[in-house]
Amino acid sequence: MNSEALIRHSATDGGRSESRHAEPEFVPSASDRGPIADRHPGPGPALVAATHGDAAPAEDVDSRMSTAGGILVDRAGLWDAEALGDVAAATFPLACPPDLAAADIEAFIAEALSGDRFGEYLTDPRRIVLKAADDSGIVGYTMLVTGDPVEPVVAHAVSVRPALELNKMYVLPGHHGGEVGGALMRAAIDTAHETGCAALWLGVNQENLRAQRFYGKHGFRIVGTRAFTVGAVRCRDYVMQRTL
Ligand SMILES: CC(C)(COP(=O)(O)OP(=O)(O)OC[C@H]1O[C@@H](n2cnc3c(N)ncnc32)[C@H](O)[C@@H]1OP(=O)(O)O)[C@@H](O)C(=O)NCCC(=O)NCCS
Repeated sequence: MNSEALIRHSATDGGRSESRHAEPEFVPSASDRGPIADRHPGPGPALVAATHGDAAPAEDVDSRMSTAGGILVDRAGLWDAEALGDVAAATFPLACPPDLAAADIEAFIAEALSGDRFGEYLTDPRRIVLKAADDSGIVGYTMLVTGDPVEPVVAHAVSVRPALELNKMYVLPGHHGGEVGGALMRAAIDTAHETGCAALWLGVNQENLRAQRFYGKHGFRIVGTRAFTVGAVRCRDYVMQRTL
């Protein structure tokens, strides 16, 4: 498979409304991190082998393109790191419970969603970051993580293997209820198929009803619960799974 292959998808979906809820995020351990300059900063998307069970490597993802609705979903590259950090900082607060302190949200953004951190995600062979863009730039993104669930409670809840984690799913507020979320979700599902996975799983804050509704529309069902820390606060997530 061409290592410069791109994932490109189009959009068609519906929905609306705003609220503040929390979401599961993969916070890499110290061993996950390293200087960006030491990692793949090449001219094309960082398509590198995944390291999960029986699933195919991430570089085997198909190449497709569509621009319906003016939204293009494509694999993000290292050059997108700062823009993804900006979108993440603008959208993560929307996923947080209304009573979560701003300081905790800001701490999480600084720790897990900076441009530097996205640079690490984008050069991590276990991760696939998909961006949705229109003429204005990136308007949403999702991050997929290969490999078996690490947390025992999640490993117990997720019943199908190999499973791909839908680690992040964020759309700028002006595009909620439009085509972007659905296009990203379809790209994530296609990527799961293409990497040989039999299921997608995710964590979502138990108060994030909009996201739960969105995931439910796309075939996810609650299979368990877990704790997820934002700043100094342990939030409660549902674990959801979608078999493919
Ligand atoms: C989650 C997200 C990607 C979904 O994209 P979207 O464009 O809003 O999704 P949709 O509009 O297709 O679906 C949302 C559904 O929730 C419904 N909804 C909106 N607000 C709601 C609320 N407060 N309670 C329950 N349902 C709600 C919508 O009506 C829609 O359902 P419908 O299509 O049956 O009418 C987007 O809302 C987002 O980025 N939110 C902020 C970040 C976030 O929470 N990310 C998920 C973290 S796990």
